[in-house]
Amino acid sequence: MSWNSLYERSYVPYSSDNSACVVESKSGKYYAGVRIENISYPLTIPAVQAACAICLSEGEIPVRIYTEDSASEQLDYWAGEFNLEIIETNDPPVDDLEDLFQTSEEDFDALPRLKSLLDKAVAPNSDFPVSAILFTEDGYFEGVNVEVSAWTHGICAERVAISKAFAAGYTEFTRLEVHTRKGEISSPCGACRQVISELLPYHDIILHHSDGTQSEHLSLDLLPFSFKSSALKK
Ligand code: THU
Repeated sequence: MSWNSLYERSYVPYSSDNSACVVESKSGKYYAGVRIENISYPLTIPAVQAACAICLSEGEIPVRIYTEDSASEQLDYWAGEFNLEIIETNDPPVDDLEDLFQTSEEDFDALPRLKSLLDKAVAPNSDFPVSAILFTEDGYFEGVNVEVSAWTHGICAERVAISKAFAAGYTEFTRLEVHTRKGEISSPCGACRQVISELLPYHDIILHHSDGTQSEHLSLDLLPFSFKSSALKK
């Protein structure tokens, strides 16, 4: 696989500016990240943030980043945070990417997995672990929240799962399930609702609350009167 095939997985309807990178972990695994734009531009997930957060969500430490553009958005921050070696290359290690897609049967019960996933959350600031599972027709991607020293560069569990899916080339989803064991209810934050409304507009969102109950919602209902403008698309 080439950079180009990875670039094509980015979601860039507003800039048309494809972007991707690959992060190598301390244990020698490779994680891809692609840029995922949002109609509310500040909610865009830069490729570097996606790749580093995915790596961290897998319990790994990023050590090296492969990119074609060493001026890419947020690269300086992540390089500084993890003392990353930046390798500018036309020949990325894309053939060795980790496969993070898990196959599952239609009746797969997400809750036990969501519960154990909470242990993977990287939440040193909040001590508020969140887990998410994003389903496709025949499998799923897992996500946990990832916090770093700059609070604004951390990313929610829901968006880590979405980032993994896009980096793996998946864009068609069936449902999203979310869990936290703390707090009164498990509920996607406003920023996640905005991202969900764009990428999973008419999907089931199943929330597993800390008291053992669950609630099901249509994503559309979670963000009434949402921001949309065809004027923004290129
Ligand atoms: N968090 C999520 O992962 N998902 C949400 O929808 C709510 C908030 C995380 C982000 C941060 O790591 C912690 O919860 C506290 O905000």
